[in-house]
Amino acid sequence: MSDDLDELRGRTLAAIDAASTLAEWDAVRVGAVGKSGSLTQLLKELGKVAPEQRRERGAAVNQVKDAVSAALDARRSSLEAAALDARLASERMDVSAPPRPTALGSIHPISRTMEEMAAIFGAMGFEVGEGLDVETDWFNFSALNIPSHHPARADHDTFYMPGTRDGRPLLLRTQTSDVQIITMTSREPPIRIISPGRTYRADHDATHSPMFHQCEGLVIDRGITLGHLKGCLIDFLRAFFGISNLPVRFRSSYFPFTEPSMEVDIGWNRKTGELGAGGDWLEILGSGMVHPKVLANCGIDPREWQGFAFGMGVERVTMLKHGMPDLRPFYESDMRWLRHYGFNPLAPTMLHEGVAR
Ligand code: DAH
Repeated sequence: MSDDLDELRGRTLAAIDAASTLAEWDAVRVGAVGKSGSLTQLLKELGKVAPEQRRERGAAVNQVKDAVSAALDARRSSLEAAALDARLASERMDVSAPPRPTALGSIHPISRTMEEMAAIFGAMGFEVGEGLDVETDWFNFSALNIPSHHPARADHDTFYMPGTRDGRPLLLRTQTSDVQIITMTSREPPIRIISPGRTYRADHDATHSPMFHQCEGLVIDRGITLGHLKGCLIDFLRAFFGISNLPVRFRSSYFPFTEPSMEVDIGWNRKTGELGAGGDWLEILGSGMVHPKVLANCGIDPREWQGFAFGMGVERVTMLKHGMPDLRPFYESDMRWLRHYGFNPLAPTMLHEGVAR
């Protein structure tokens, strides 16, 4: 075999050996046996070789070509096997490893507050009652002593719905107080319920959302007085905010469905936002003794049964408890906010320990 062929063979086989990736391997292949590769070129030039040497030269070039092709095939197989091994190693999974807890989901602060309310009032013997988002104006207003001409109706920025039920206009409830009527018309006293749920008003800015949450409370029994109302709400507020000496003030007010009515304030520092001290007062919920007309509207004799009711905004108490400045992120599903303000569903809490006083 001539020197030039010998040299080409040695160089090409060495390059094949040195190719460490399929891309490098392919570059060597194209350079040797591709369309204008060095060996292909030699085969094309056979015609120029003198006839008496052509046969020998042709056989020699073909021999080199066969050797190069065999080396290329072998190298390709081993590169492919190595690539597969690497992939299998990187995707290896130990199916016998014990499960690890993931930290993906969290409890939304609104849900968390409603769970805490259920836990605290539950410990006082309250049940959780439910209402409907779509209600008639009778449950949302009329039965609560807010007849159609009453100015309180205008205050509520009500979303009215098409259609009627029982001949009465439909609306998205503006308050959870409808659950008072649902409960009193569907069962006998004594009654002790709270009812957290969604409410709607046509209002939207940094402190108002067209959909928000309230929690209603209702107690009906014999001999219920203002003292029961005050004791119950003071206990709740101190447990909920986790401040055992939280100042609580009852201030005379007006609601159509209670008489007398009171707004409830808690002590805080207006400058720092700190709850419990500072000499300022912050309104936190509405309450009162259930109006005799409301009891009568539900077929309950006001001479035999008395009661108290209260209602509060779930977003508002959640923002105060956790120092949240803005209402809007509650509904934006922003993962960064949820990670920061959400609650670990597996962490032990007061809900499991019983209510701390
Ligand atoms: N429903 C009232 C509101 O949306 C809150 C409220 C006040 C509820 C006094 C009550 C109550 O049960 O007694 O503003």
